[in-house]
Order: sequence, then C-alpha cells, then structure tokens
Amino acid sequence: MRLLLHQLAQNGQKIGFVPTMGALHEGHLSLIASAKKECDFVVTSIFVNPTQFNEQSDLDKYPRTLENDIQLLAQAGNDLLYTPTVEDIYPDDFDHGKVYQFNGIDNLLEGAFRPGHFNGVAMVVHRLLDIVQPDAIFMGQKDFQQVAIIRQLIKTENLSTRLVMCPIIRSSEGLALSSRNARLSPEWKKKALVLSQSLHFAKAAIQSKQSIKEIEAEAIKRIKNQGLKPEYFSIINGLTLQDATRKSGFLVAVTAAWAGDVRLIDNMILRDKSDSYAK
Ligand code: PAF
Repeated sequence: MRLLLHQLAQNGQKIGFVPTMGALHEGHLSLIASAKKECDFVVTSIFVNPTQFNEQSDLDKYPRTLENDIQLLAQAGNDLLYTPTVEDIYPDDFDHGKVYQFNGIDNLLEGAFRPGHFNGVAMVVHRLLDIVQPDAIFMGQKDFQQVAIIRQLIKTENLSTRLVMCPIIRSSEGLALSSRNARLSPEWKKKALVLSQSLHFAKAAIQSKQSIKEIEAEAIKRIKNQGLKPEYFSIINGLTLQDATRKSGFLVAVTAAWAGDVRLIDNMILRDKSDSYAK
C-alpha cells in the first residue's frame, strides 16, 4: 500500500484519507464524498482502535460490520480500504508511553469523562497518517473535540496533512448519525431526538437575552425530562473549547448523554464569525 500511494503521490495525485472504526453509515460516506471531491485517490481505514476505549466492554460491544462496510465503500467509489491488524498498528517495538500535549483541550468535556481517550485517538491517527501520508484527512464535526485534537496533533507534530472538517449528517428526524445508534432500541432512538432538539433550542436562545448558564441549564432539564442522563451540555468557544462568553465569535454547543446504556454525543455551531475553523 505504501508503494502504491508513494507512486500515486509521485505522479501528482492528491491523496485523501478517511479514518474510521467501521460500522459505516451516511456520515462516513459524506466524508468519502468530500474526499473524492477534493482529492484524486481516496483511502479509507477501518480499525477499531483499542487504545481509545476506556472500558473493555465498550470495545467488545463496538459494532463490526465489515462485509456491509465493504459494499458501502464500493458504492461510494472509495479507492482503497485499509484494514490493519492491531499488530500492524502497534508492533512489539511501538512506544505506548507517548503522551501528547494538547494545551489542556484533552481534559475538558469528553476528556473529563473519558480519561486517556484523546491520547489514544492521537496515537492511532498519528500512526495512520504516518503510514498513509495523505494530502488531506477528512473528519466529521460530530466529534468536534476530536477534530480540535487532531488539528493540534498536526500542528505540534509538524505534519503536512490538511485537516478538513465535514458537517454532521442527521437522520430525517434529527438524530446525529453514529455507529453507536445501532445499539439504540426504537424507544431510545425516539427519546434521543431531544439532543438535537436541545441544540436547536440553544441556537435560538443565544439570540435572546438569556444568559449562557440559563440556556445550558434549560437544555440539561429538557434532556433529563426525556429520561436521558446528560453528562454535559456546554456552550463553548469553538477555538479554545473553553466556556464561551457572549462575546465569543465562534460559539458551539456540545453535549453528551446516556440513552439507556448507550453514550451519545452531539453538537451544533451556534455562531461562527471566526472565519478560520469550520470551513
Ligand atoms: O472517529 C473515529 O471513528 C475514531 O476516533 C478515529 C478517528 C477513526 C480514530 O480511531
């Protein structure tokens, strides 16, 4: 694969890369579509990365649907599928002790509830970028904090890959697509709509006189009323990921909640005057 990609690059072909953990859905396919638009050759990886899971049971339960994924990738016009083994990514001499520096953005929000998660994400994406050497990597806004982490990784490790963040794809009712949705019962799927509804509420409320704290509290109340267990609903500065003030030009509402035993995340850009990030 390295030889083939090297030859393509030498011939001036732009390589686009979509890293995934499989169980592909329309969200992933939209990343591939964006990559096809901007690049000449698209590589998708499927690798369920053990170093980013906090619980062994979550890793075990992660949906694996390779046959179906292969069909979807063929239909989407993906050029090359990379399905490494754990030994390919983490050979015996791999340094598992590497601790990446993210200026604190790895300890907030998702990081506060999933210690070490982003170090594992950075570790695998760093390794995949090293193997694939793409011109551009395509990632979904659904994992907003993950995108910020990879932006920081590219900066601190001086990588030459361009990062492209692609918009969230939702079901017709508004649920953000996620491989984890496969584990939701029809009832929980319905109740989980409160997440996107509360984000829409925040987007409208930010235009009003309500304070950010009041909006967050109201959103949490709405999520709880549907029987979900929220971990956070925060309005943040999209550049620093710190709590936003009303003056922040780039405002994002981010949330995580348990729908039964399935942990869901979602977010929405409330205002973007930063010009630099979400394009
Ligand atoms: O978003 C994901 O599916 C994973 O975190 C990623 C980026 C493929 C790294 O394992």
